[in-house]
Amino acid sequence: MNAHKIVLLGPPGAGKGTQAALLAKELNIAHIATGDILREEVKRATPLGRAAKAYMDCGELVPDNVIINIVKGKLAQLDGFVLDGFPRTLKQAQALEGLKIDVAVNIKLSREELIERLSARRVCQHCGRNYNLRSEPPGRDLICDGCGGHLITRSDDQPEVIARRYDVYQQESAPVVEFYRKKGILIEIEGNRAIEAVFQEMLRSVQIQLAS
Ligand code: AP5
Repeated sequence: MNAHKIVLLGPPGAGKGTQAALLAKELNIAHIATGDILREEVKRATPLGRAAKAYMDCGELVPDNVIINIVKGKLAQLDGFVLDGFPRTLKQAQALEGLKIDVAVNIKLSREELIERLSARRVCQHCGRNYNLRSEPPGRDLICDGCGGHLITRSDDQPEVIARRYDVYQQESAPVVEFYRKKGILIEIEGNRAIEAVFQEMLRSVQIQLAS
């Protein structure tokens, strides 16, 4: 495992999860996705999951102290990682200060494009794999290619919740982009291209930053 520490930023639907998985594999580092961690808790109906669901289903952020504790616990066991969906507030960014993040990647996407993308997303109810009816459709209608599970719409991919998630991103998370810009470790990537094209540009820029 490598020791690179990378955070992926961007509005809902920008492609953070898709690109984080590719980057983690390429650089041989762990992929930590706070949305996936919370959805797993929701699925298992743990006390945390039940509390988080109320926030997630209406597009609000889970409180900082809750998510910071979860992430700190995960990162304590790792040398290198790509963080997807964290930090999302300045308080969360400050909580990472002791770790010396190497690169922050901001994937950019317009509001119109992300609404279209998220409205077309389907996820496997069983294994959680992501599909997109426009760009990444399954081989068989609403059936997971990997495990045969049923594909469903994520509960926070309803139009009014997508709109709220975008507003919350603008208010709470856009300042995090400026936080990393001021540190001189921010890379900005245009997300409105094919997945592989976004990945190749991101990888090139990340490698340059890691070598500097
Ligand atoms: P989370 O799961 O992190 O949701 P999000 O940030 O809104 O991001 P998404 O998963 O919707 O999108 P993405 O950018 O990862 O894009 P993806 O690759 O999936 O968080 C959910 C909720 O949990 C939050 O709202 C909050 O309540 C809570 N939470 C999580 N972290 C938190 C934190 N730190 N603090 C507090 N609360 C927190 O792609 C989207 C779709 O587009 C897919 O269908 C994909 O196939 C497709 N796609 C991807 N790339 C492309 C491309 N280049 N071209 C065409 N289609 C593409």
